[in-house]
Amino acid sequence: MNLFHLKQFSLFLACIILSVSCFAQTSTSDPHSYAQPDRAVVTHLALNLTVNFQKKVLTGKASWNIKVNQDAGEIVFDTRDLEIRKVTLGDPEKLTTFTLGKNDDFLGKPLTVKLSPGTTVVNIYYTTSPGAAALQWLTPQQTGGKMLPFLFTQSQAILARTWIPCQDGPGIRFTYEADVKVPPALLPLMSASNPQEKNKSGKYHFNMAQPIPSYLLALAVGDIAFRKLSEHTGVYAEPAMLEKVAWEFADIPAMVAAAERLYGPYRWDRYDVIVLPPSFPFGGMENPRLTFATPTVIAGDRSLVSLVSHELAHSWSGNLVTNATWDDFWLNEGFTVYFERRIDEQLYGKEFADMEWVLGRQSLADELNSFGEDDRDTWLKLDLSGRDPDDGMTGIAYEKGALLLHCIEERVGREKLDSFLREYFSVNAFQSMTTASFVTYLENELVATNQAAFQDFDYKQWIYGAGIPESCPPIISSRFLLVDLQIAAYNEGKPCSELQTKYWVAQEWIHFLSGIQQNLSSTRMKELDDTFGFTNSGNSEIAVLWFLMAINNQYTAAYPQMESFLNSVGRRKFIMPLYQALMQTETGKQMAMAIYKKSRQNYHPVATGSVDELLQWKEHDKNSPY
Ligand code: BES
Ligand code: ZN
Repeated sequence: MNLFHLKQFSLFLACIILSVSCFAQTSTSDPHSYAQPDRAVVTHLALNLTVNFQKKVLTGKASWNIKVNQDAGEIVFDTRDLEIRKVTLGDPEKLTTFTLGKNDDFLGKPLTVKLSPGTTVVNIYYTTSPGAAALQWLTPQQTGGKMLPFLFTQSQAILARTWIPCQDGPGIRFTYEADVKVPPALLPLMSASNPQEKNKSGKYHFNMAQPIPSYLLALAVGDIAFRKLSEHTGVYAEPAMLEKVAWEFADIPAMVAAAERLYGPYRWDRYDVIVLPPSFPFGGMENPRLTFATPTVIAGDRSLVSLVSHELAHSWSGNLVTNATWDDFWLNEGFTVYFERRIDEQLYGKEFADMEWVLGRQSLADELNSFGEDDRDTWLKLDLSGRDPDDGMTGIAYEKGALLLHCIEERVGREKLDSFLREYFSVNAFQSMTTASFVTYLENELVATNQAAFQDFDYKQWIYGAGIPESCPPIISSRFLLVDLQIAAYNEGKPCSELQTKYWVAQEWIHFLSGIQQNLSSTRMKELDDTFGFTNSGNSEIAVLWFLMAINNQYTAAYPQMESFLNSVGRRKFIMPLYQALMQTETGKQMAMAIYKKSRQNYHPVATGSVDELLQWKEHDKNSPY
């Protein structure tokens, strides 16, 4: 073979490899999207939206740039509860035909649009429904300022389709720009380049130059103000909270620096955080450039800022390298929890990070316990087909996933794992990753060169098997060993005032509360409360643990605080266990129903979906006037 042929041959080989890898990218079938990206796929979105607070709807036009395979005569989008008014092709626009398929409760309806040869743009004119599951429309009364309404979205996992017709799978990426019109007293923000102050017109333009999957589309609209933390970071919140938020999150610039030192450059330009009203159903959401956060982390003592480390870490694990389907969720969350604790270790020291590891290990044990030994949902690689992905995305992905990386670190050493991860984020940036392709990558880049370290370590069993294989040394926190002594003393009857709790931080209190005997007399509950003030704790994690103990021991003195917490806070991780605990007794059940009847209107659809099911809330209850 002469040089020319060799060149041609290698070109030919490269083409095959390229097309095989492209095929592998787009043909990963996603059980939660109707889209058929191997036939026609989106590449860019130009969104034009008007926010109507009176009608609680978004109205507008989504113009999609698309890439079409030769003979695909149509393109399929995901929609749910959207009214599609008209679809046109190209610019200038030409009307085309479309069909909406059969509705599925959580997948919604496929929108199939007829294409003409050479179509590159599809324009969809649509309106959302007031009940759209991604959207929460807050009345002025439900905000901190009480004067103006508020709107925010939550797109993960498959709710983007309830506010934008899109190809709603995490394996498909696109850039976007948006023109959004809001009432002039309000400021809109997106997961994109953002304004820092209001203008008189109420019209704003947004741009996201890096390709993202649909679950990272986000919008918040309200009486929102900005405070700079550094040249490239800042915080947004309602004006009354802004000072507190800026103080609580003062470490953000240092967190970004630590994250970059660990795993490479931050690829999203700015990093800002918005603290939303208390009904936000999650702790945080990693919307690119603009993390959405619950106000329940504003504890007043910076004790819960690791939530920001977590959401920031997603800028690499999740937003840069993205789980290809929700079955691969652990690649997002497990990696992020590991990364989060590495950031925390850099900022707050090893003792602090070790406490987080032990708390995580404990919550994993509890969760595995409640699942049972062989439960399929305790694999890292999930199988969520035919189910609402929300049901299967549990804490397992977080803590078992993080623990797997921790165990690998134990075996190959920190230096090697870190350079492996740095490379992983850089090589796979702006792409999606299946569990199988991660395993291959791991085998090629780490296992092959460190065979001895992996010899008796069955990582596949971790990923494709239930529970925790017994191949990982326990994590020990030296500070918790001291807390354990106080737990033992308390359980033996030592009065609270004699316990050594000076200098304890939130994590130590959490360990203490989960470690002490859980069945307590009202005298002992009162003694704890009088000495340590748990009922009025400003730390939401501590308060919720305490409310759970209050329910289990019928310590009624804490009930008024618990009720007012449940009435305003809509964070699912907190409210679900509280309602669950109440449901254990007949009187508790009645209390749960009464509280929910008042509070339901304050929760996001993501939260009401879960609580409705738990309380078996019925249609007629839903419609009853509050
Ligand atoms: N991406 C998740 C939130 C999420 C997960 C939304 C699944 C919808 C479906 C976010 O990064 C997260 O994990 N939030 C945690 C906080 C974190 C500190 C563990 C939460 O909200 O509790
Ligand atoms: Zn996360």
